[in-house]
Amino acid sequence: MSRYRVGLIGGDGIGPAVVAEALKVVDAAGVELDTVEYDLGADRYLRTGEILPDPVLAELGDLDAILLGAVGPPLGSRAVPPGALERGLLLRLRFELDLYVNLRPFTSGAGSLFPALDFAVVRENTEGVYAGEGGCLRRGMPGEVATQGSVNTRFGVERCVRYAFELASCRSRQHLTLVHKTNVLTFAGDLWQRTFDAVGAEYPGVETAYQHVDAACIHLVESPNRYDVIVTDNLFGDILTDLAGAVTGGIGLAASANLNPARTGPSLFEPVHGAAHDIVGSGRANPLAAIRSAALMLDHLGETEAAARVTKAVIEWAAEPSATARQQDPVTTLSTAEIGDAIAERV
Ligand code: IPM
Ligand code: MN
Repeated sequence: MSRYRVGLIGGDGIGPAVVAEALKVVDAAGVELDTVEYDLGADRYLRTGEILPDPVLAELGDLDAILLGAVGPPLGSRAVPPGALERGLLLRLRFELDLYVNLRPFTSGAGSLFPALDFAVVRENTEGVYAGEGGCLRRGMPGEVATQGSVNTRFGVERCVRYAFELASCRSRQHLTLVHKTNVLTFAGDLWQRTFDAVGAEYPGVETAYQHVDAACIHLVESPNRYDVIVTDNLFGDILTDLAGAVTGGIGLAASANLNPARTGPSLFEPVHGAAHDIVGSGRANPLAAIRSAALMLDHLGETEAAARVTKAVIEWAAEPSATARQQDPVTTLSTAEIGDAIAERV
């Protein structure tokens, strides 16, 4: 028996294939896991009508960690109601397991115009517009009304901001940027800004900056090397991290950790990318984001040395010009499993 009980949710599309490569690399790094597979996602929903039964959620809550591939039906599928899986599975896990930080580290891959990027986005993961506040009236009628509010609590913002300051204080540049839209979202922005300033007073070594989210989009594209750690709300973080993925060499490299830093339960690790149903079975799914997500899991479990080896192997491999060439050239393209093998060999 290993020390870690890890739940596997391969999920939909390319999810199971990339999770398999992540496990291959964890094994090569010498960490033994007791894995439990969970059949969750579009397939189960279409077969049984179930998304996340309560007993399954309870079981997941008792594990040490969860590794997830991807969930979501094929684009345009009418068999699954829009948002049913996202809200019913992924977001429910984030909320019920209190995974209040979504940590997304970015480093340049060979496809990036900027060679030496190394920054992280700390995305608040349980509040904002994702909380599901709102509703609709007179649906389908001419006078239809829909509202979708943003929930921001002092408690929720503070614990996220505190995590970001703590992270920044451990990095060499010790720089933290708050991204929001305080000029328009005056209520939520004010709460975020004051909380940021108050917590910041406890971290005099961390240099701080503030940017509106629209300006941050320009800076991320034009001069991403200015960033060390960014902290932001749930929706801005969702959007900025897709942009950050594109800027650093493609979403295929972007990993994430949905963390419960208080450790009242397991944390969940997943690539930022989705199910990519269009390439299922082609062997063209890039497993690097899932592998790096597994490294974030190892780090959280306390296997810091193994985690560092896996992260280094992924970062170095992804930054080699030949890595991009291999992924783009149809003749020499490495398959999903071959990329997993290459990383496993390096760790
Ligand atoms: C992400 C995804 C999810 C989100 C979706 C699938 C609910 O885009 O993890 O970034 O919006 O958070
Ligand atoms: Mn997203």
